[in-house]
Amino acid sequence: MLDPISKFLFRHHHKVERNVTVLLIFSFLIVAIGGIVEIVPLFYVDNTIEKVQGMRPYTPLELAGRNVYVREGCYTCHSQQIRPMRDEVERYGHYSLAAESMYDHPFQWGSKRTGPDLARVGNRYSDEWHVRHLIEPRSVVRESIMPRYGHLATTDLRTDDIAQHLKTNRLLGVPYTDEMITEARADLRNQASLEADTSALGERYPKMQARDFDGNPSRLTEMDALVAYLQSLGTLVDFTAYEPLSHENLR
Ligand code: HEC
Repeated sequence: MLDPISKFLFRHHHKVERNVTVLLIFSFLIVAIGGIVEIVPLFYVDNTIEKVQGMRPYTPLELAGRNVYVREGCYTCHSQQIRPMRDEVERYGHYSLAAESMYDHPFQWGSKRTGPDLARVGNRYSDEWHVRHLIEPRSVVRESIMPRYGHLATTDLRTDDIAQHLKTNRLLGVPYTDEMITEARADLRNQASLEADTSALGERYPKMQARDFDGNPSRLTEMDALVAYLQSLGTLVDFTAYEPLSHENLR
């Protein structure tokens, strides 16, 4: 037996289905209600990204490395987005938080995984491993199909325009201070140098790692920047101390 509502719909449904205009009006109404339900709440929250302790803008060297990453199209094979599914979390680590890419313009979530996700690759391998892998992936992973990027180790990193890159990111909402912008070029060089005093740099950018990244201290190369960027990925948020705001919902 049908309940009265179903009975009613059953009896009158053909009126809607057989008249294109009525069908269109009803379809529009349904889609509009769905849209309103999704969009309206966004106007009533200050920020859709939950603030998370530890996130900071990229150091100038990391930002330069990120630019190399984007230029070389690494995102065409690598995602930076760990989904909250068990297999992904077990393989890559804690699922990605929106806040972890809030300073990424454009974001590097990617749409395809020919290679593994890189959202938490930082500190997982040594610098030497990355340099060898980027120069000749097959020398460390025999069956790899990743292309070679050896030219990065022999190309000097352009540093004269780094302050402009910080400024542009500030325009897009990344909280770089005036000091960070005026010191950008010196900060970039100091982070990749063996001798420099990096205490001010470390205060500006907590948890930054400073050293010669490409194994060639006499030159500042694009490899230095890219490896510094890779080594920073996923290392800023301390997940032993992190509690999601709505963890009840995520169980
Ligand atoms: C044509 C697809 C492709 C492109 C483009 C590509 N990779 Fe890969 N990458 C792979 C594959 C496949 C693997 C897995 C095998 C291996 O480790 O070499 C991989 C592995 C890696 C790993 C090791 C990850 C891990 O957790 O073991 C890193 C780091 C990496 N790639 C960085 C990069 C960077 C940086 C770029 C851009 C300069 C890049 N890849 C471009 C396909 C690609």
